[in-house]
Amino acid sequence: MKVLVQKNYEELSKKAAEIIKAQLAEKPDSVFGLATGGTPGGTYEEIIRMYKAGEVDFSRATAFNLDEYYPIKKTSDQSYYYFMQKNLFDHVNFAKTFIPNGEAADAATECAAYDEKIAAHGGIDLQILGIGGNGHIGFNEPGDEFIAATHHTPLDESTIKANARFFADVSEVPRHSLTMGIGTIMQAKKIILLASGAGKADIIQKTVRGAITPQVPASVLQLHPNVTIIADTEAGKLV
Ligand code: F6R
Repeated sequence: MKVLVQKNYEELSKKAAEIIKAQLAEKPDSVFGLATGGTPGGTYEEIIRMYKAGEVDFSRATAFNLDEYYPIKKTSDQSYYYFMQKNLFDHVNFAKTFIPNGEAADAATECAAYDEKIAAHGGIDLQILGIGGNGHIGFNEPGDEFIAATHHTPLDESTIKANARFFADVSEVPRHSLTMGIGTIMQAKKIILLASGAGKADIIQKTVRGAITPQVPASVLQLHPNVTIIADTEAGKLV
């Protein structure tokens, strides 16, 4: 596991965008795994800037998002579908984009189809992750086991509280999600995990140096051959 500590959030975002740009240069038809939440916003802004400046071209690239609330309407301004259109997909030229369908009638069918679609596209070349304060990646919450495949899962109480900042009230935060599984994530050829702020320092330390345990889902990344953690000074201060 490589840890790159950048001096601030802006530098972290630029570094992540540079890695995405390099991935595209190496393989223009790359398959990207993408995250939502607060942390990747700066990276997506930088990618949009690069696209407008003619520095990157996603016309042969595909994106698969990590997760989506369930159930949720695509038109809800809290859906990850809405977030991705607004913050990235409306502004750059991905050939194809996929997000787990929060409107699916049957969650299990949707999840199985999602993994099949990723496999049919040759797997993920570069996966971008954030990390929950509780160590979740995607919405793989702390628990007694790692769940390999994309699945339907309840959100942890701490995640509901953490994500309440995006909603008018905590009662509006959906209680369930569809998320890529740990196996889905671990099959990505390269992974970058972004972490910003002092609130992530403890969990980054546990992820990098702690025991590999489903109680800290991100710790499983220690077993992956090509993971880079990009942290700002605050998030990286205990590593
Ligand atoms: C979002 C996701 C989550 C977030 C994590 C951190 O698609 O999969 O694992 O990456 O909850 O969220 P922020 O960046 O808001 O701290």
